[in-house]
Amino acid sequence: MRSHFCGHVNESLIDQEVTLCGWVDTRRDHGGVIFIDLRDREGIVQVVVDPDEAEAFALAEQIRSEYVLRIQGKVRHRPKDTVNPALATGMVEVLGQTLEVLNKSDALPFQLDEDGVNEGLRLKYRYLDLRRDVMHRNIRTRHTVVKTLRRFLEDAGFIEIETPILTRSTPEGARDYLVPSRTYPGQFFALPQSPQLFKQLLMVAGFERYFQIARCFRDEDLRADRQPEFTQLDIETAFLEEADIMTIMENMIRALFKEVLDVVLPDPFPQMRYDEAMSRFGTDRPDLRNPLELVELSDVMQNVEFKVFSQPAQASDGRVAALRIPRGGALTRKEIDDYTGFVGKYGARGLAYIKVNEVGKGRDGLQSPILKFLPDDVVDTILQRSAAEDGDLIFFGAASADVVNDSLSALRDLVARDRGLLKDGWQPLWVVDFPMFAYDADSKTWHALHHPFTAPKESDVELLDKDPANTYSRAYDMILNGSEIGGGSIRIHKQNVQQRVFEVLGIEPAEADEKFGFLLESLKYGAPPHGGIAFGVDRIVSQITGMDSIRDVIAFPKTQKASCLLTGAPDIVDDKQLRELNIRLRKPIDKDQSAS
Ligand code: AMO
Ligand code: AMP
Repeated sequence: MRSHFCGHVNESLIDQEVTLCGWVDTRRDHGGVIFIDLRDREGIVQVVVDPDEAEAFALAEQIRSEYVLRIQGKVRHRPKDTVNPALATGMVEVLGQTLEVLNKSDALPFQLDEDGVNEGLRLKYRYLDLRRDVMHRNIRTRHTVVKTLRRFLEDAGFIEIETPILTRSTPEGARDYLVPSRTYPGQFFALPQSPQLFKQLLMVAGFERYFQIARCFRDEDLRADRQPEFTQLDIETAFLEEADIMTIMENMIRALFKEVLDVVLPDPFPQMRYDEAMSRFGTDRPDLRNPLELVELSDVMQNVEFKVFSQPAQASDGRVAALRIPRGGALTRKEIDDYTGFVGKYGARGLAYIKVNEVGKGRDGLQSPILKFLPDDVVDTILQRSAAEDGDLIFFGAASADVVNDSLSALRDLVARDRGLLKDGWQPLWVVDFPMFAYDADSKTWHALHHPFTAPKESDVELLDKDPANTYSRAYDMILNGSEIGGGSIRIHKQNVQQRVFEVLGIEPAEADEKFGFLLESLKYGAPPHGGIAFGVDRIVSQITGMDSIRDVIAFPKTQKASCLLTGAPDIVDDKQLRELNIRLRKPIDKDQSAS
């Protein structure tokens, strides 16, 4: 139907006849001459229709935005004063000779060049939203990213293998999406939270290097970087240690950034122990572009008069820490109140602060409602450890370590953004030496910090049952600018070790056998030492394209409430379908309510 893409028409085609197909981006009537910006996937070209071409002109007068046209015409130089060097086609225009309307379009529910369109509307009409230049670029960048990753892995001897979508639950810490079985009434498949167990079985099967672009499903609370279905680049290897795997994966991510962004990432990536990350940043995925750091004060607050500090300082699960804001003395009362409200969302009961007017004057140079509760030596330690300077402000968090870490790490991100403290560029980081387990005080149980198939450090195997809190794992996470883009580990390949880990997690042998019997059994038949990793493809692409939300790099994403506004899924189904599945609903469903 076409001879060229609109976006490819340039000076090399001067005086040639071209046939173009595309959408009307804009139509302008300039008293006698009609200009049409015709758009296809490669770009936009300006078409001029002159009244001399009577038939074409009559048609051009009727067309509207987003009509689909086929235009045949001749390429010519633009008049000097209308040249647009910013546009690939900006030196030329096409003098339209024949015009054909391939399809009309109603007025769109929003303008494609409009800023700040409501996301609900964008998702309902996603096929129109996707016409926008930025979305086209995002989706095409995604294609390039996946292509580049695939090529790298193929070249490194990895084999792409598909694993089932209708399967059994894999415990990655989220709720499962379930699919009822018609042939086995009352029984359900689970959609995979990841291909974890299958990729381990592929190592037992001897493939040694596997990868898959795998769709994963997790019914969890959604955020900007979480979707209920998302895509992993899933990888597993046999006979490689963590250092080998990490090197290959770094090489892959470096190759990707070079190819797609022409960015050279550091070689090697820096590594940080989990404990150090938590202590300095309050999070296991620190953004190293952010210069702010937490300062430990639990030791010096043990005996201060201020109970708000001394109680958590004395508690075994408590923490008191500070965050110095350079030149933060300029913060207004309102800004401090807003930050106090912000940390409240993470469970902090307040946000004490000290304004540092003049460090040299000791206590007299400071200003704070809590100063009177703190003795001189404590004040000195605060100033020293935080390296305070004149004009700074120091925030304090005191509570359980979890609350202090969550609230101060979130505050650290927010303040850095508000005050323009983030450095430019790319900061990759491996976080290593994770604890195997975390204790949940409510349920009084241990849970796996990664997943239950992660191997303990060889030196810690004997600690497993005796001292779970101090057992470290062979897990590693890759962080990029504060986003966890990948996570993996060396796996347990000995059946008895796997059984002991299940025991620590409170999974009884009978339950372990029922849920993971097939895995435990496979470990009996010559399972090789193995390990791997999975990357969040959506997160990598959103970083590369500079998008705030992974929704902007997924063609058809779900909303924050896990629904699809375009198709209206999920939806109620016919009684007949339910009967076939042997399902009766506990309560009749009011569709209007359930959709809200
Ligand atoms: P993990 O649960 O860390 O590990 O997942 C790996 C990576 O997947 C991405 N990710 C997500 N992206 C979008 N939406 C979500 N809801 C979501 N959840 C996770 C993250 C994360 O780093 N089986 C293990 C991997 C392994 O051990 O090999 C696993 O799934 O970028
Ligand atoms: P109060 O004694 O409640 O008046 O608090 C005195 C100061 O300590 C105020 O600035 C509070 O915001 C702050 N504060 C109270 N509880 C905490 C806490 N758990 N962590 C940090 N600061 C707190």
